Amino acid sequence: MAWKGVVEQYRERLPAVRDHRAVTLLEGDTPLIELPRLAAELGLKAGLWAKYEGLNPTGSFKDRGMTMAMTMAVAEGSSAVICASTGNTSASAAAYAARAGLRCFVIIPEGKIALGKLSQAVMHGAKVLEIEGGFDEAFSVVRGIAERCEVTVVNSINPHRLQGQKTAAFEICDVLGRAPDYHVLPVGNAGNITAYWMGYREYHEDAVVSSLPKMMGFQAAGAAPLVHGHKIEKPETVATAIRIGNPVSWKGAEAAARDSGGAIDAVSDEEIMAAYKMLAATEGVFAEPASAASIAGLRKLAEGGVIEEKSLIVCTLTGHGLKDPSNAIEVCPKPTKVSGDLDKVVGIMGI
Ligand code: F0G
Repeated sequence: MAWKGVVEQYRERLPAVRDHRAVTLLEGDTPLIELPRLAAELGLKAGLWAKYEGLNPTGSFKDRGMTMAMTMAVAEGSSAVICASTGNTSASAAAYAARAGLRCFVIIPEGKIALGKLSQAVMHGAKVLEIEGGFDEAFSVVRGIAERCEVTVVNSINPHRLQGQKTAAFEICDVLGRAPDYHVLPVGNAGNITAYWMGYREYHEDAVVSSLPKMMGFQAAGAAPLVHGHKIEKPETVATAIRIGNPVSWKGAEAAARDSGGAIDAVSDEEIMAAYKMLAATEGVFAEPASAASIAGLRKLAEGGVIEEKSLIVCTLTGHGLKDPSNAIEVCPKPTKVSGDLDKVVGIMGI
């Protein structure tokens, strides 16, 4: 049967939608890809899988939440939506708002949005406002606007967003026939780890699965409020998607890590960029730098001897590598220039 998007697929587990017509771009049903070469490279004797969320319609996991938020905005008679974003939420909001025929406003931190994401927001017709400051400042502007204007906030304080995002946990269990032992993912605003944990718990409570994963969240070292236990005033990281100093779902992330027996830790920009290249080069899977925080985190766990043999690990790759081509170009060797002369080309190939 043709896939109809996460709202149709999991409607009975998304009680708020009742019989409302879904605003969808057929998000979800993303591949769960086994990564044996990467597992070997990391010295892991465990089963390793990536939930490749970069293959959602706008190239990130945000589409799962946005189909729900936009479906509900339409059902509730809203005519405009707004979000603050490090890029992916704005790309997704802009696309789903276009799909729904709603106006869309996005507030982004000046100069810190990967080019692919910005191109999506403008192409889908959002009104894009760049503010001085980072995501946290952009988000407080959104809160202020929501108090004054008739506009629906589609950041993850909108509870429908996390409801939609929990479907990724369902899909993983549906494909594996069980829950993984470890779920590793990047943490920025902390909504996704909260949503996954909600999804796993629901399946567990309904006995669809008989175990729960340990939730292992990774922040960038320069933007790791959950690790330090306090807000970070000026968060900095090459992984601009998770450059956040005061996450909205702080409590949800803490609860997910604590209640699952997992943890939230940090990885450096160097570790993130090394993992970013390693994933692309060893497995042919291209994910953006923030997504690679999960692989960098896994590497840290593997090196620390944390992972038991024969365990089953799922890493979420939250966004597509093409979102942020500049970082890729920067960390890799430039193409070799050569004249069209066959001998010269063969010489350089060294084959
Ligand atoms: N990975 C990517 C690619 C993201 O875009 C984000 C968040 C995260 C990880 C972290 O997820 O916030 O649920 O903990 N991006 C948001 C945005 C903040 O505005 O696009 P989280």
